[in-house]
Amino acid sequence: MSEKLRAVLVGCGSISKAWLTPIGQFDDVEIVGLVDVKSENAEQARDNFELWQAEVGDSLPTMLARQKPDVVFDCTVPEAHAEVTLGALAAGAHVLGEKPMAASMTQARRMVAAAEQADRICAVIQNRRYMDNIVAFRQAIADGLAGRLHTLTGDFYVGAHFGGFREAMQHVLILDMAIHTFDQARYISGQDPLSVYCHDWNPAGSWFRHGASAAAIFEMSDGMVFRYQGSWCAEGMNTSWEGEWRAIGDRGTVLWDGRDRIAGERPSRREGLISPVEGFSRPVDTGLTLHGHAAIIREFLDCVRDGGRPQTDCRDNIKSLAMVHAAIESAESGRKVAVEAIR
Ligand SMILES: NC(=O)c1ccc[n+]([C@@H]2O[C@H](COP(=O)([O-])OP(=O)(O)OC[C@H]3O[C@@H](n4cnc5c(N)ncnc54)[C@H](O)[C@@H]3O)[C@@H](O)[C@H]2O)c1
Repeated sequence: MSEKLRAVLVGCGSISKAWLTPIGQFDDVEIVGLVDVKSENAEQARDNFELWQAEVGDSLPTMLARQKPDVVFDCTVPEAHAEVTLGALAAGAHVLGEKPMAASMTQARRMVAAAEQADRICAVIQNRRYMDNIVAFRQAIADGLAGRLHTLTGDFYVGAHFGGFREAMQHVLILDMAIHTFDQARYISGQDPLSVYCHDWNPAGSWFRHGASAAAIFEMSDGMVFRYQGSWCAEGMNTSWEGEWRAIGDRGTVLWDGRDRIAGERPSRREGLISPVEGFSRPVDTGLTLHGHAAIIREFLDCVRDGGRPQTDCRDNIKSLAMVHAAIESAESGRKVAVEAIR
């Protein structure tokens, strides 16, 4: 392996800026290739980030053969993630890709098998795990402030006018956004999904083609229920992109507003109809030095160099994706669906 890791980035659309900015600040990785089916997008990225050393092209197989990269960064649309990853792994590269891991569970299982066979890392960007506030909320739960969790709720309301591929997608909220919230639920609780009942719909006035609102109830592995509700057509009074959370356990309740407030209450003694409570709060500064995309890209590069696997390795992330596809199957069938069966 050369001194600097040689990287090819595929898919030079909107999100690629959130990758190329931190990558430009790391001195042990070099972008040697930029690929996009619309080669003008790759040229634009090269010019915007002054990546004059990078080859630009519209074919990943050709770029892999010419540049032989150590790592491939996949910022393409969900339908292309499996093809990009399988091609990159077959060429011997480690892969870090955008969420969702794949557009179907069949594709995701192929990606896991290919990573195993190639003995390479294949990991997914779940940037919302790498923020001070969620890390602090997770720690508050792990420290037992609520006790043993029996209920977790996550609410997501953002009126987002993206244009582009999302407005034509089926089940757009669940497939493109709820993957973040579902993955957050696993991260916060430390529990894995068992089953889901989900209903999604396209609300009045929606500017999406399908499924811009959803509600889902998951049974989780330690007896907890995770209840999700969200919409991409909520104009006004938006939550943060991280959602609003309530964790209830056998000792008390902890709230996270999805921004900078983590606070809770627990009974101070058992008395009367409603027990008297004492309040508590947690600071959200956990001292992370890198956040979001920068943090997960750094973790991935460190694992490529030193061994180990990022926390969002595909073998684990497929459980979050399974929540998405089980929810979609439930929404389509109107039945409760076992998440394990989907995996
Ligand atoms: N982690 C986050 O917070 C976050 C935020 C936004 C988007 N995303 C994800 O990033 C991905 C891309 O989203 P976007 O908003 O940048 O979309 P976009 O449409 O702006 O960009 C996608 C780019 O990929 C190119 N492309 C498509 N198929 C390709 C292929 N087979 N080979 C090479 N290039 C290809 C397109 O031409 C386009 O330039 C999606 O999976 C999306 O869910 C993640």
